[in-house]
Amino acid sequence: MALGRTLGILVPALIVVGAAGAYALTWRSSFDPVPRPDPASFDADLVARGTQLAAVGNCIACHTVPGGDAFAGGLAVPTPFGTVYSTNITPDEKTGIGTWSLAAFRRSLHDGLDRDGHHLYPAFPYDQFTLLSDNDVEALYAYLMTRRAVENQPPPNELPFPLNIRATVAGWKLLFFDSGRFAPDPGKSDQWNRGAYLAEGLGHCGGCHTPRNALGAREKDEAWNGGMAEGWTAYPINENSPAPIPWSADALAFYLRNGWHQDHGVSRGPMAEVTGNLGRLSDEGVEAIAVYTASRMGAPEVPDAGPALAASVIEAPGEGQTSDTQTQPEDTDEAQGQASGTQAQSEDAGFARGAEIYAAACASCHEGDRPQPYGGLDFHLSTAVNASNPQNIVIVTFWGLPPADGMASAVMPGFEGVLSDLDTINLLTYLRREFTDKPDWEGVGELVTATRTGEHPVSVRPADMIERAPRNLGAKEEP
Ligand code: HEC
Ligand code: HEC
Ligand code: HEC
Repeated sequence: MALGRTLGILVPALIVVGAAGAYALTWRSSFDPVPRPDPASFDADLVARGTQLAAVGNCIACHTVPGGDAFAGGLAVPTPFGTVYSTNITPDEKTGIGTWSLAAFRRSLHDGLDRDGHHLYPAFPYDQFTLLSDNDVEALYAYLMTRRAVENQPPPNELPFPLNIRATVAGWKLLFFDSGRFAPDPGKSDQWNRGAYLAEGLGHCGGCHTPRNALGAREKDEAWNGGMAEGWTAYPINENSPAPIPWSADALAFYLRNGWHQDHGVSRGPMAEVTGNLGRLSDEGVEAIAVYTASRMGAPEVPDAGPALAASVIEAPGEGQTSDTQTQPEDTDEAQGQASGTQAQSEDAGFARGAEIYAAACASCHEGDRPQPYGGLDFHLSTAVNASNPQNIVIVTFWGLPPADGMASAVMPGFEGVLSDLDTINLLTYLRREFTDKPDWEGVGELVTATRTGEHPVSVRPADMIERAPRNLGAKEEP
């Protein structure tokens, strides 16, 4: 029959076309190796710009093993499917990128291919770095090529078949990856566009703050709606931000530069590293990111309404009130961690126990007079307590905020040894009911247990500095 004949031709044809397509997709040319560029051949201004850009891109965090040589690779980057080890991006000719031309380097950031043309795993955030301008790529290249070359061969990746075959990444790219440069929005200010460029591209804010699908790709229509990073919750930083006092551009600029803000507390976990790095960016760059982020959150473009609003949130009673500026101020002493809620609450033994723990272990700092960042935040202001899950409070409560090496920093002791799972659950229930008007969290018990046992792995690090102290960070003096 005609149909049969058509199918008979079509099917093999489709297979051939499919195979050719797959071949075309997976096969990429290789760039010839070049002699390692002489570090002295790079313009000092270009290298300086590359230094800032590399900090914003957080290249060092993923490409350095804690305490190891900067950029020498070998850090295990977990993915939903297995472990990918970061590569050595020092200019070592044997094990690093010393023989990569600028063109090869540019292609890796823009299209996720190595010098030989193999597909790179998207654990390397090239799906965001693809927005980088050619000038910025050149500055990054100059920066990396003037670091100290370190010979180090990272371990092989631990991925199951068939994902261990790099060609499979071609399929992922086909579905989820758009290669392309940043396109400014002509309807917006230069500052907004600069911020969008930095935040969406090199700063890869969405890499942590956007939920991912089962294949590890960012959900494009849920951009910045909250995600996960190293076991921590990266809160929504769009119009769904749970921050009790809405973020303003000024507050964001301060937080991103200093790693804390009076009304929002200290940046912790993976975000501490981000703010530590952004501290190296120019004021102009940080402010641009803040303006863009504030607009994503729907913040009014007016100066910070901070202090007045903050006072009303702090003094609101625990029941059913948040940032209502009409609230009559109440004596804050009354909130000394006693169960001051409704009858139903005071009848609840767990709630009462939580109140007791809070009063004994937390209130001295979290209701103290010490200003941020050294005093604990009033929990009425805490995004952690207002967020859709208590993951970050559990992490901070168990392991505290370890002091940063050799500098003043926010410090909080860890309570892992003294709080049982049940006490932790009671404490969380109390915090949620007492300091927010949100419904109780669900699944708190499982979350507490999984966090304690490590079934849900998390990374813990000092509050306001980059934990990974690499050995040769000052390598520009000894190229
Ligand atoms: C979130 C972690 C992460 C960040 C941030 C990151 N990288 Fe990577 N990068 C990786 C991983 C993982 C690989 C290895 C991917 C693979 O093997 O397919 C990689 C691979 C690379 C490669 C390919 C090297 C090779 O030998 O194939 C280059 C070049 C590179 N990164 C440069 C950078 C630069 C420049 C920055 C900062 C602007 C950066 N990376 C930031 C995780 C990261
Ligand atoms: C490596 C992952 C990661 C990246 C990249 C990242 N963040 Fe975060 N961010 C987090 C985590 C985790 C938290 C929660 C930290 C905490 O509890 O203190 C957070 C918290 C925040 C907060 C505080 C929200 C609140 O209400 O308390 C803001 C604002 C923020 N991030 C903005 C940004 C911006 C802007 C960028 C890009 C320049 C960015 N983040 C990049 C992981 C990340
Ligand atoms: C020795 C002082 C101290 C004690 C005791 C203490 N904290 Fe903290 N805590 C801090 C400091 C300092 C910070 C960092 C500033 C900030 O972000 O609140 C902090 C931060 C936090 C945060 C993050 C708040 C946010 O959203 O920014 C949480 C949650 C937290 N502490 C919970 C607790 C709990 C629960 C207890 C009692 C079991 C407790 N803390 C006891 C000092 C303390």
